[in-house]
Amino acid sequence: MMWFGVDYYPEHWPEERWPLDAKMMREAGMNTVRLAEFAWALLEPEDGLYDFAWLDRAIEVLTREGIQIILGTPTAAAPKWLMDKYPDMYPVDIYGLTKGFGTRRHYCPNNKIYRQYSVLIARRMAEHYKDHKHIVAWQIDNEFGGACYCQSCLQAFRLWVRNKYGTIDKLNKEWGTVFWSHTYRHWDEIILPAYSSSDGFSQNAGAQQLLSTPYNHNPGLLLDYQRFFSDATAEYQRLQIEEIRACTNLPITHNLMGHFSELDYFDLARDLDVVCWDNYPNNMWGKSSYTQVSMAHDLMRGLKNKNFWMMEQQSGPCGWHMMGDTPEPGQLRLWTYQAVAHGAEAMVYFRWRSCTVGIEQYWHGILDHDGIGRRRYREIKAIGAEISALSGLLVGSDNVSSAALIKSYDNFWSHRGQPHNVNFNYNGLLDAYYSAVAKQHVNLDVTSVESDFSKYKLVMMPAFNLVTEAIAAKCEAYVEQGGALVLTFRSGTRTWNNQMTTLTVPGLFKQLAGVELEEFDSVNFGRTVRVQSAFGEGTASVWCDVLKTDGAEAIATYASHYYAGEAAVTVNSFGKGRVYYVGCDLDEAALGALTELIVKKEGIPTTLSVPTNGLEAIEKVKDGQAFLMLLNHNNEHVECPLNGIYEDAMNGTKVKDRITVAPYGVHVLLKR
Ligand code: GLA
Ligand code: ZN
Repeated sequence: MMWFGVDYYPEHWPEERWPLDAKMMREAGMNTVRLAEFAWALLEPEDGLYDFAWLDRAIEVLTREGIQIILGTPTAAAPKWLMDKYPDMYPVDIYGLTKGFGTRRHYCPNNKIYRQYSVLIARRMAEHYKDHKHIVAWQIDNEFGGACYCQSCLQAFRLWVRNKYGTIDKLNKEWGTVFWSHTYRHWDEIILPAYSSSDGFSQNAGAQQLLSTPYNHNPGLLLDYQRFFSDATAEYQRLQIEEIRACTNLPITHNLMGHFSELDYFDLARDLDVVCWDNYPNNMWGKSSYTQVSMAHDLMRGLKNKNFWMMEQQSGPCGWHMMGDTPEPGQLRLWTYQAVAHGAEAMVYFRWRSCTVGIEQYWHGILDHDGIGRRRYREIKAIGAEISALSGLLVGSDNVSSAALIKSYDNFWSHRGQPHNVNFNYNGLLDAYYSAVAKQHVNLDVTSVESDFSKYKLVMMPAFNLVTEAIAAKCEAYVEQGGALVLTFRSGTRTWNNQMTTLTVPGLFKQLAGVELEEFDSVNFGRTVRVQSAFGEGTASVWCDVLKTDGAEAIATYASHYYAGEAAVTVNSFGKGRVYYVGCDLDEAALGALTELIVKKEGIPTTLSVPTNGLEAIEKVKDGQAFLMLLNHNNEHVECPLNGIYEDAMNGTKVKDRITVAPYGVHVLLKR
């Protein structure tokens, strides 16, 4: 069975309304709700005084309609009495300012007393609900976030570096503190990379992401601080997991945020039974392309290489002060199936009813403020009926991917600290590669460098800059056995602790790639560089490596600037496989053409034979039954060519050679 439901806040509504909500949920095919993740002040109104009665009553009303419960621990919103009692719990920003009460996430995960209170509330909830037969899963906290620079963090960071390095000499060496007299003599001298004398609001003119946050600290310190804070958050999560685990074996999850990269999601996911995430493709902060959403789904699946849950899926127009676009007819259905196609086994929409109070008044749910279900409710009700009929096929199905894109949070943090060029953005580069390849109807996994490469025909590791010998050896073994590997500019220039390598770049990848850098050019101030190749002409506008081949063959060369004629993109045979080194960024069309050449040359399977704009075709398999999910992201009909014979799982029609997909339409086609 597939979990299909909503995030519900019974505490926002009069109790007399609850039965009608539950009934309307059931009528929409819902079988689950998530509850309580912000309700600490109601669950523990005074220190040590717990009140579960209201939640018990809400659960009773819901379960009477056959709805099962996912319970959230409420630690993302601590009550005022707790904060007043221990003001040290508030997080501190990079400028030393305390981030106070009035919104949410107003705590530091390293604060020892906060940890104790969190453990207590989690334990009390778990004990209270441990034998409740309608609780089906637990969510820890809500959307863990970014950094803190308080005294608790400082103490915890000193311990963390001590554990990592053992001796202060080792730390000094790895960070290179000889530079500018940064040498530390004792652990107690270690600092957090907060605001310092060379940081200014006006520095790094043009580098938007560097303007608001100082990044002028020692790169070793900066990177270790990011690692530390991520570890500390995972540790905080683990404390709650242990309390719940002591009472129940139900699955435990935490709702992640897709492309958010302040925390190492691979680490957070390791301790969870299942990953879930929150997806808002169109809201006041921006609109995601369909490939960005698909990539986020694939990354969420790749965190554990396992199917995941949607814990918050957009169900209406969204924003705090303003709103994004209202989802058009058919879009909620399209987004639902997009998630399912990429591995979602639970679909929980945010939220049930649009709220009349609080800063999320405009973050619309399925029902409007007046409690009436209109178009969005009717659409979701129809999806509910469809999904329940299809859930046998969908739940437990596997995605079939022969290509992988590697994401590294350590590399993200290193690049973010020093992006090399004002227009360079590691996540943006991953996005460009994902989208170029996905648009050729190649299904991808987005996963960690620790995943097993042997199942892929193509592995792409853009800008993999921090490298260890183990990672280089793993890549060599993979290519030796016949794999194809894509490396790019800004690879292998650093050690794992963020020092520049003394090896000739691309460092540990040099032999594998069969190239070395003669020099490089950070492309600035509106300049572009022309690139020409067998796959056509293109331009670089961020970065150009001037490559000297050493075994590799050039497949593209620069066509302007002083290095015209030099190699820009190369391919090297290594063992039974091949390594592509892409020395520059490329405009979208040229990157599309280059990746098309790679996909063809390497024989990477595509799910459609003819590229069809805006149409996703995701191949899946369940118990030996192959099926194809077609998702039309265009607001117009698309003619889709098919290889072979299929049966439409929604209506039993036989489909051969081609199918017309309606605007925002979806088909689930069983291979016959
Ligand atoms: C996040 C949170 C929700 C809600 C939405 C809308 O995803 O988890 O509680 O606040 O954003 O802002
Ligand atoms: Zn802190």
